[in-house]
Amino acid sequence: MKDIIEELERRRSVARAGGGEKRVAAQHGKGKLTARERIELLMDDGSFEEFDMFVEHRSTDFGMEKTKIPGDGVVTGWGTINGRVVYVFAKDFTVFGGSLSETHAKKITKIQDMAVMNRAPVIGLFDAGGARIQEGVAALGGYGEVFLRNVLASGVIPQISVIMGPCAGGDVYSPAMTDFIFMVRDTSYMFVTGPDVVKTVTNETVTAEELGGAIVHTTKSSVADKSFENDVEALLQTRRLMDFLPSSNLSGVPELETKDPATRIEASLDTLVPDNPNKPYDIKELITKVADEGDFFEIQEAFARNIVTGFGRLEGRTVGFVANQPLVLAGVLDSDASRKAARFVRFCDCFSIPLVTFVDVPGFLPGTAQEYGGLIKHGAKLLFAYAEATVPKVTLITRKAYGGAYDVMSSKHIRGDVNYAWPSAEIAVMGAKGAVEILYRDELGDPEKIAARIAEYKARFANPFIAAERGYIDEVIQPRDTRMRLARALNMLRGKTVENPWKKHDNIPL
Ligand code: HXC
Repeated sequence: MKDIIEELERRRSVARAGGGEKRVAAQHGKGKLTARERIELLMDDGSFEEFDMFVEHRSTDFGMEKTKIPGDGVVTGWGTINGRVVYVFAKDFTVFGGSLSETHAKKITKIQDMAVMNRAPVIGLFDAGGARIQEGVAALGGYGEVFLRNVLASGVIPQISVIMGPCAGGDVYSPAMTDFIFMVRDTSYMFVTGPDVVKTVTNETVTAEELGGAIVHTTKSSVADKSFENDVEALLQTRRLMDFLPSSNLSGVPELETKDPATRIEASLDTLVPDNPNKPYDIKELITKVADEGDFFEIQEAFARNIVTGFGRLEGRTVGFVANQPLVLAGVLDSDASRKAARFVRFCDCFSIPLVTFVDVPGFLPGTAQEYGGLIKHGAKLLFAYAEATVPKVTLITRKAYGGAYDVMSSKHIRGDVNYAWPSAEIAVMGAKGAVEILYRDELGDPEKIAARIAEYKARFANPFIAAERGYIDEVIQPRDTRMRLARALNMLRGKTVENPWKKHDNIPL
């Protein structure tokens, strides 16, 4: 018996050694942790249980039968994060560059299937060169199996991808179909084809960082949702995100204990909106002042900063915040902001996370760049996402709610459940100046007359009461009471049930 136990330990230590000391040292030399070190940091202490440690590839081409490493380039299993079950796979770059073989794919799909069956999230830690080149179509088939499961699991369990090394091919397409992508700055890249192929095909000379680094993907392409300084920060922040997320679409949001009373009054909010309507202010101040303990996990903070999206809690329960940001482009809605917020709204709706929307929006951004870029279709994404969402939706207009953007930003008309306004709210088809310039074009030569017309328009529309008279606003509230009112509204809406008409699926304007 002793011999058998020793044999098990020997086999285990071979598998744990991955691609060997030299490759592990190279991994560390690049500032990266190994797959198992990453999993240790991600999971609760001692909670990780590994599956398929002894799986090896079956390839015999290109002399591959001589190089077999148990585990075959991916570490898979399950464990807990703050006590809740999650499934995980971590690509081991020290073994064939973490590339995916037929058997490697089977290890991942086993985890994906278990996660869906048991309704718990999957986290993938990526550091890999895509399909294993020596395996050809067997590897491509393996990816197809992973992709299929990504799609079938979408909206059932949260899927998170953390990009922690150079990733190409299937190792970017699979993450692209998950809910959130995080990257590590300076050591992680994502591209479909790397700089060498780019040079051959397009004659473009570009570095890996320029082509697919964390800065590119969080600010330009919006492929990634967040970037972090190093592996440790990325993994700890992934743990933090998981605390906000439900385990599945049936589990409901997690509830954390909080010492922050829902009745907390924030007097400073009474002066958040400046007297001058053209002066900006930071909407994140409102979010952090109303959320439990000021804890806000922002998603895509570096992209389309004119809209803010992210998770917080009220009375210990997760809510999704969506807020126009007056500090950036006056909070205008453009294509990027619409796409960003639409995706966030749909994530929240999938997983029964109530939506809290803060509105201060001067309208949609005019111009050829926007129109040629498809503003109509992108703006429609956000309208569509809000309108189809059946989760509790609480909206607060802090200042401007102009034009179509008023309708889009979770208005009563598209099933906002509770719609509040601060006394500083202005709800109109457009700003007073623009309106007067259209309505009284023939008086434009007379500044005095125009000033009077603007004052008249403002007096009529630059307030929340016309909308409140029609019931489009349920109540005008004091800014200082906002946290309490939101918490009360969400409490009241806990039992909300509403179903959209039966359909196979909708046809959101993609
Ligand atoms: C087999 C691979 C591999 C792969 C890397 N390696 N990628 N082995 N198949 N796809 C091996 C290398 O041979 C090397 O082995 C080790 O991993 C480390 O790779 P390096 O190139 O030395 O590392 P680095 O310089 O950091 O570059 C990493 C890289 C690069 C950017 C990922 O290796 C690369 O470009 N690889 C190929 C990417 C690719 O085109 N993949 C196929 C995509 S198609 P040794 O023994 O020296 O340690 C695809 C289809 C899916 O995925 C479908 C998509 C829709």
